Amino acid sequence: IKGDIRDRDILKKIFKYQSIKSVIHFAGLKAVGEAEKFPIKYYENNVLGSLNLFHEMELAEVKTIVFSSSATVYGKHTKNKYDEDTPTRPINVYGRTKHIVENILRDIKKSDDNWSIGLLRYFNPVGAHASGIIGENPKEKPNNLLPYISQVAAGLREKLFIFGNDYPTSDGTGRRDYIHIEDLSSAHIKTLYLIQNTKNKLFTLNLGTGKSHSVFEMINQFEEVSGKEIPFQVVDRRPGDLAEFYADASKAEKLLDWKANRSVKEMCEDTWRWQKNNFFNK
Ligand code: UD1
Repeated sequence: IKGDIRDRDILKKIFKYQSIKSVIHFAGLKAVGEAEKFPIKYYENNVLGSLNLFHEMELAEVKTIVFSSSATVYGKHTKNKYDEDTPTRPINVYGRTKHIVENILRDIKKSDDNWSIGLLRYFNPVGAHASGIIGENPKEKPNNLLPYISQVAAGLREKLFIFGNDYPTSDGTGRRDYIHIEDLSSAHIKTLYLIQNTKNKLFTLNLGTGKSHSVFEMINQFEEVSGKEIPFQVVDRRPGDLAEFYADASKAEKLLDWKANRSVKEMCEDTWRWQKNNFFNK
């Protein structure tokens, strides 16, 4: 059913006519820069939309939910490895929308113990389905690193702009915890299973590999798997970017009996397969 999360009537009908046991809530806008320009749009979609959903869930007595949150809720810290107890102080609008929804769900849980809630904080999801059929095709210029590299390799963009090479990291570029979307997706299934079968729970879990990779490491890996050269130009730092952060994912690994196993090589291979099969400039 194609609908808009801001539309209460559609949500009402869905819960009325379908037999729904649990919800995995992915419906949100996710571009950090765009959120700064259009905060009302972001709060309306991400916060108001979520409230609509929770309201209809409550009316339908569906009280099991996995929420797609983000490591962005942590904001800036002096350490690079973030566990779930790292204080949350998001520094942008997008992060605040995720943080607000997390808190709404915590309050709902406090008021009614029948809710089961999994709050999943993603680090940097990348890659595509291994079939090459499902992938990410940003409508405009990609905001994120891997889709940009991939479009350069496909001949759709001339070169990559590296946002700063003077960070205090191994090679001066930003380091991130990239996680393959298929590892991410399996963590959702496991979370759903866990919260469906352990009543009266609320979990907050980091989803990442626990390792960070630099921009140059990602470029080199992509060049290797695609056989294409990725021309680049170093430009100024992007405002708001951090030098390095990665997940302490040990809580999710233990609780879900799960690990993000797919390597950066597989992330690049799957991204490239999808790019080549779908959007490629010969
Ligand atoms: C971004 C979002 C974050 C979101 C995540 C989802 C920002 C500030 N943060 O994280 O909220 O949860 O995506 O995947 O947008 N880089 C370049 N050139 C580019 C693009 C990126 O050099 O064209 C560098 C960045 O400076 C950074 C690294 O690549 O060091 C990763 O950037 P990106 O993919 O945008 O992810 P984040 O900024 O970590």
